[in-house]
Amino acid sequence: MTPEQRQELMRLLEKGDDISPEWARILFPPEKREYELVYYGKDREEDIIADTLAVPLQPVRTFGRNGVDWHNKLIFGDNLQVMKTLLEMKKKGELRNEDGTDGVRLVYIDPPFSTQQEFKGTEDQKAYQDKIAGALFVEFIRKRLVFLKALLADNGSLYIHLDTRKSHYIKIILDELLNEGRFENEIIWKRSSAHSDSSTFANLHDSILFYRRGVDSVFNPVYQPYSEDYIDERYKHKEADGRRYLDRDLSSTGLKGGGYLYEWKGITQQWRCPRETMKRYEIENRLYYTKKGVARYKQYLDEMPGVALQDIWLDINAVNSQAKERVGYPTQKPESLIDRIIRSSSNEGDLVLDAFAGSGTVCAVAEKLGRRWIGIDCGKLAIYAIQKRMLDLKKGIGNKGAKLTPKPFTLYNAGLYDFSKLKELSWPEWRFFALQLFGCRDEKHKIGGIEFDGYRQGQSVMVFNHMEAKHKGACISEETIEEIHEAAGARVGNKIFIIAPALAFDFQQDYIDLDKIRYYALRIPYSMIHELHRREFTALKQPSDEMAVNDTVEAVGFDFIRTPELKYKVGTERPKGKLFEEGYIKIETFKSDAVVREPFKKKENLETLSMVMLDFDYDVESKVFAFDSVFYADALEKEDWVARFPIEQLGQKVMMIFLDIYGNEARVLIDAENFGLGKTKAKSRRKK
Ligand SMILES: C[S@@+](CC[C@H](N)C(=O)[O-])C[C@H]1O[C@@H](n2cnc3c(N)ncnc32)[C@H](O)[C@@H]1O
Repeated sequence: MTPEQRQELMRLLEKGDDISPEWARILFPPEKREYELVYYGKDREEDIIADTLAVPLQPVRTFGRNGVDWHNKLIFGDNLQVMKTLLEMKKKGELRNEDGTDGVRLVYIDPPFSTQQEFKGTEDQKAYQDKIAGALFVEFIRKRLVFLKALLADNGSLYIHLDTRKSHYIKIILDELLNEGRFENEIIWKRSSAHSDSSTFANLHDSILFYRRGVDSVFNPVYQPYSEDYIDERYKHKEADGRRYLDRDLSSTGLKGGGYLYEWKGITQQWRCPRETMKRYEIENRLYYTKKGVARYKQYLDEMPGVALQDIWLDINAVNSQAKERVGYPTQKPESLIDRIIRSSSNEGDLVLDAFAGSGTVCAVAEKLGRRWIGIDCGKLAIYAIQKRMLDLKKGIGNKGAKLTPKPFTLYNAGLYDFSKLKELSWPEWRFFALQLFGCRDEKHKIGGIEFDGYRQGQSVMVFNHMEAKHKGACISEETIEEIHEAAGARVGNKIFIIAPALAFDFQQDYIDLDKIRYYALRIPYSMIHELHRREFTALKQPSDEMAVNDTVEAVGFDFIRTPELKYKVGTERPKGKLFEEGYIKIETFKSDAVVREPFKKKENLETLSMVMLDFDYDVESKVFAFDSVFYADALEKEDWVARFPIEQLGQKVMMIFLDIYGNEARVLIDAENFGLGKTKAKSRRKK
């Protein structure tokens, strides 16, 4: 800072004037970089990692038998928190490629880019607010990229799928995080065929940015067949059997280190191969002679791999409405696009991660190509779509060909837990889960003869053994805290944490202060831990209309599943103006109060409904929910909360999942006959 600048700053401070953001650059000059992207709310990388809460993975269900050292993972939750957990797994050597190397070999993400916020006010205000929304979006992605970078193997690669609205900002962010030199390509994918826009040039492409983590990151060139034009132009010669070839120079011109001087069929010159090789070529009919009698090499078309793929991809269509691979999830990307990326930047047995999994294209293609995979999504619809997709998998890309049974994979909840499942845990499992939930280090120790289970921010943590206590009829009372204080109080820091199920506490307070030591009661399910984490917890939001599926969603903290209250009617009727009877579900009551952020605000009836998902022919044996149809709340509201569908779709049993905006489900399994079809109708349908 120059003396003049110092004086000017002092003057501004004394006057109490606003300090413009440019001063940030003068006060804190960038040390290494020549330039960087500066925006409101940009956090330090270290802080992003430190401030993110790891959330334990609660297994919900395993499909197939789990592998000994690895099984693929489908995780429901906010990807930031989940990635913090994955990072801890990586540190413990639990995130491995088949060859034993640590970390994820390939990341592909296709994050949402619609920011649906509507701002009212003047044009200027709107423009300003748009910029804020833009900065929030960039930081949302950057935070995830910080974790993805940390999760990557040293020789891993990262692809991020964006459109032209934001790709330039994210490129700068990636240059900063991964180093500009690691940028490999901006792949232009022509996603849509011509559509007209008379006001400007129609936008037809997405941008996929490709970075390598290390110089030696895996790269397998992918080849494409030559175009007809290219073949006609270059492969002009044909053998009698129609085999096409071109002729290559056999003189040593341009060859480093010279060639071999000899005479061949009357021509003496420097050749690029020795006479012995030339003789072999002659026997193998690999020589072509020009009009002047000069020998040239026959290069057959069918021996060539094709053209090495370049960075403009025009030959892959978006998933159309008739495509076999279509799963009915908005924003689904084509398998052939992902196939190229996975083949190029990973080998069999390598671990591939998609933190915005959507319909699970990466999981499906990784499975087909023999890779390990992890898919994360915060949308229940996405999770069900993926689950179904993995169980209906076909071997070929585009979901064609013979059936493929996927290797075992486990579905996990992260951040929204099933409390009833926790009750099934053994004591060591419960203890481990509790420590993870509150971000504690597992390390038993004794103070004043009292046993503690670990540490949280350097302070001792006790996980109360409620299972043993239950037999003795014991609980944690104020006296228990006093006893702990008497025995250990003098030797602990200024806080002690006690984790237990809510019912195990005999007092209501969130903490008890004794001689400047604060004894926190950490209740499971979640109680008052805002103070503990020094931040607001926010819940995951499920979309209530199709457009919102591509919105950014962020959740901090965790909660426990609470089943919403539900009343409904089902039946068949012929709607006005229609020729045939249709099945219907009328939702009369839907209430849920599982709101971390606003725990005491009662919601109106139907206000918290996100969507209704249906499996028309639920398989009671496998108990897999294979969803067939989805009705978003916004659309249902317009139909007076009635969902209608053709009765032909009904099988024997129908599973209905009524989802709230926080991810809680009310599940109902009913006989198709309950729709009032009459036995004969139901039977005849079943025979079909
Ligand atoms: C564009 S879609 C991905 C589509 C996917 N590539 C496919 O082929 O189907 C983006 C996905 O990101 C998910 N998402 C948004 N925010 C998220 C978050 N914080 N954590 C996890 N998933 C998130 C959305 O639920 C949505 O499914």
